[in-house]
Amino acid sequence: MQGDAIVEAKDLKAYYITKAYGVERTVKAVDDISVSIKAGEVYGLAGESGCGKSTLLKVLLGDFQPPLTVVEGSVAYDFEGQTKDATKLSEQDKRDIRWNKVSYIPQGSMHVLNPVRRIQDTFHDFITTHKGTSKSQSYDMTRKYLRDLGLPEKVMRSYPHQLSGGMRQRVTIALATILWPKLIFADEPTTALDVVVQRGVIQLLKDIQQKEGSTVVLITHDLGVHANLADRIGVLYAGKLVEEAPTRTILKSPKHPYTQFLINSLPTFEERSAREGIPGRPPALDHPPSGCRFHPRCPMAIAKCSSIEPKMLELSPGHRAACHLLEEPNHAAA
Ligand SMILES: Nc1ncnc2c1ncn2[C@@H]1O[C@H](COP(=O)(O)OP(=O)(O)OP(=O)(O)O)[C@@H](O)[C@H]1O
Ligand SMILES: [Mg+2]
Repeated sequence: MQGDAIVEAKDLKAYYITKAYGVERTVKAVDDISVSIKAGEVYGLAGESGCGKSTLLKVLLGDFQPPLTVVEGSVAYDFEGQTKDATKLSEQDKRDIRWNKVSYIPQGSMHVLNPVRRIQDTFHDFITTHKGTSKSQSYDMTRKYLRDLGLPEKVMRSYPHQLSGGMRQRVTIALATILWPKLIFADEPTTALDVVVQRGVIQLLKDIQQKEGSTVVLITHDLGVHANLADRIGVLYAGKLVEEAPTRTILKSPKHPYTQFLINSLPTFEERSAREGIPGRPPALDHPPSGCRFHPRCPMAIAKCSSIEPKMLELSPGHRAACHLLEEPNHAAA
């Protein structure tokens, strides 16, 4: 593992392998991805729907079951010098690690709160499972944590349906982080919220991260959210990592044509409306295109893009991208 890494995936291949009526289907959702997340950073994963973001997160989290299968590669955790392979956790390891060390805010998590329990009792159920606390100890912990995060104490006695969508999401994030995990995985925590409410959720994640120096792996297809939160961004396309760089670098000088499209389709401050979208659609991952998976949609594709897979190139320290155009400086993309 790299010295400052807390979680590191190496040559990771994770496929959905299903069999129906004797026909085997393999969806190559994560296909040879290597990524190293540094302790204390916010690492953003970006990319269109279906490119493998949630799948990668599930494997990094060590929480996956068939049909999702790790076909190759490893995911190493480093907790205070102790190394573990997240793809091979025992049930005991999972119990030890989950929520205390690693927590997960799943996609669509606003709906995980039990509708017939008051928030304080949902917190108690959760805390006591891990810490064996009494009800009053759990309530005290919850009250203090909500106060630390600037959330109103009165939500404790509410039922989920009495809270707004944004407040429900903040409560869910508080629940997932109340045991101060070192590593937080958040899958689309702001999607489905309107922009104003999004800001509160982003601020909450920022606060938690800064208070504890936690590491956050954040998925959103919204680059605007990444710009606000992430230290570094990894861009996925069709199961591959195509570019990775510090946030400012990638927003200012994206090198992969796909990243350039993603950034160009962001609304600018003046326009406030979406600009040109990316033509075409991501491919189905049971039969991904040969060569560079982006070549059928890439306006800059050259002959070898359809047959040879581009290698990941280090363009400058910390800035990597996989595109044939970057191999020959004269043809460098933009
Ligand atoms: N249980 C499953 N069985 C088979 N294929 C699956 C399964 N779950 C996801 N996939 C496929 O794996 C690929 C990656 O899906 P994934 O959910 O990781 O994408 P994503 O980037 O998180 O998308 P979104 O932005 O829509 O959440 C997609 O092609 C999807 O159809
Ligand atoms: Mg997803």
